Amino acid sequence: MDSPGTLLLAALIALLILYSVWGKIFEAGRRLPPGPTPLPLLGNLLQIRNGETAKTLMELGERYGAVYTFHFGPSPVVVFCGYEAVKEALVDHGDDFIGRGKQATVDRVFQGYGLMASEGDRWRQLRRFSLATLRNFGLGKRSIEERIKDEARSLVEELRTYEERSFDPAILISKAVSNVISSVVFGKRFDYHDKKFQRMLDIFYETFELMSSTWGQVQEMIPFIMNHIPGPHQKITALLEELNEFIAERVRINQESLDPNSPRDYIDCFLKKMEEEKNNPDSEFHMKNFVLTLNNLFFAGGETVATTLKHGFLLLIKYPDIQAKVFEEIDKVIGRDHSPNIEDRSKMPYTDAVIHEIQRFSNVIPMNAPHSATKDTEFRGFTIPKGTGVCALLCSVLGDPKYFDTPNKFNPNHFLAADGSFKRNEAFLPFSTGKRICLGEGLARMELFLFLTSVLQNFALTSQTRFTEADVAPRMTGFANVPIPYQMTFVAR
Ligand code: HEM
Repeated sequence: MDSPGTLLLAALIALLILYSVWGKIFEAGRRLPPGPTPLPLLGNLLQIRNGETAKTLMELGERYGAVYTFHFGPSPVVVFCGYEAVKEALVDHGDDFIGRGKQATVDRVFQGYGLMASEGDRWRQLRRFSLATLRNFGLGKRSIEERIKDEARSLVEELRTYEERSFDPAILISKAVSNVISSVVFGKRFDYHDKKFQRMLDIFYETFELMSSTWGQVQEMIPFIMNHIPGPHQKITALLEELNEFIAERVRINQESLDPNSPRDYIDCFLKKMEEEKNNPDSEFHMKNFVLTLNNLFFAGGETVATTLKHGFLLLIKYPDIQAKVFEEIDKVIGRDHSPNIEDRSKMPYTDAVIHEIQRFSNVIPMNAPHSATKDTEFRGFTIPKGTGVCALLCSVLGDPKYFDTPNKFNPNHFLAADGSFKRNEAFLPFSTGKRICLGEGLARMELFLFLTSVLQNFALTSQTRFTEADVAPRMTGFANVPIPYQMTFVAR
């Protein structure tokens, strides 16, 4: 009876029994929505095919319905699919799911501090302050629109220096976009050839890529193992800390020349607030939140917009007829005498529809940032316990067939009425929705319009490569949908 073969068989049977009841124990005990049966410790890790977490979660939605449970390792995460479920979760149950979920790739750096990772009163204080500062004059005399327009002019000038040579525009786009957030946060733009600036952008790009890589995705699933084994994912912490040092240095520079009566940028406003609140024991305006919030603004405000523009250029090269219609509208409404203004947008329904469609189709943050339940919550007959992770699957909203006729095709008609006017679509949620909606939505939309129209006013976008539909489709892997690298030419118009 006790031969090694028998023992092995007994262990195998025990494992099989454990496996078969594991999921049921979880679900019965917590009355969570049903989902694929998890393995002990690994959860549903093995269900993720080809390193495509976002795509797998979409497909599981078709099988299990709009609300199901997926185990990231041993931790259950409730996934909401499609516009209706996501709206019900983030808007109707807004306060219940306002918590920030775990994000193992970056949690070791943020530890619950800074705007993006925080919750409760810390989040409220940082959010209110940041919104007000980004919205109003807090930033000094120059409006955000002027800062973007200046940068768009610099980008166009830089593009001319390429004299219609073919090149990969990714780095230059990242530089232009990051300069906008630099101008808002640091009160300064960087020269495109500045070495430190270049290093900072390398950090953004590499971190974005690593978070979305297979290594990053596995780390999100089983951090208790991956945090302790070597691999490229370990670099994320070092990269973000290098960025924090760069930011802290800029804070010191501002501190030396601060005039509290005339704040020049976000940093000056935060320094002023820190001073005002220095005797308040409940104040969240201290150095740790300061540096980590700046890190959030840079990271969230840089690569997201840059990645959208990179997708946008690629799509416009792939669909030259759509590009031609944008030229037509630019020539009619803006002409050649002035650079684009934000007020031109309302007179340019076709261009506006194309920009919306670029954002919808490329769905840059497909799984949203993670949320969590702040209390035990009843949802469609299930009970989601306090602290459970929540994933409002934005790619399933942007591709919801009830709201978009041809969800898998790049089709600006999704945002155009029969008479050619712009048509809103409530399922257009690339910035998420509810109280934690992207803080930079207004800034991002302004940047997308002004950068895109400024470039297309001056150049036609072409490439020697003939891109296929697969080349331009989002990759649907991890945290971010980064487009393929590509070479292109900006031909003077
Ligand atoms: C196309 C560009 C952008 C996209 C697609 C995007 C998307 C998102 C998404 C999906 C979230 C998570 C919302 C949630 O938790 O429900 C988010 C949060 C955030 N975004 Fe953006 N974003 C973009 C641009 C920007 C810009 C330009 C800024 C700069 C100010 C910014 C700052 C933030 C911040 C600070 C948060 C955290 C908000 C919080 O936790 O309360 N984003 N963004």
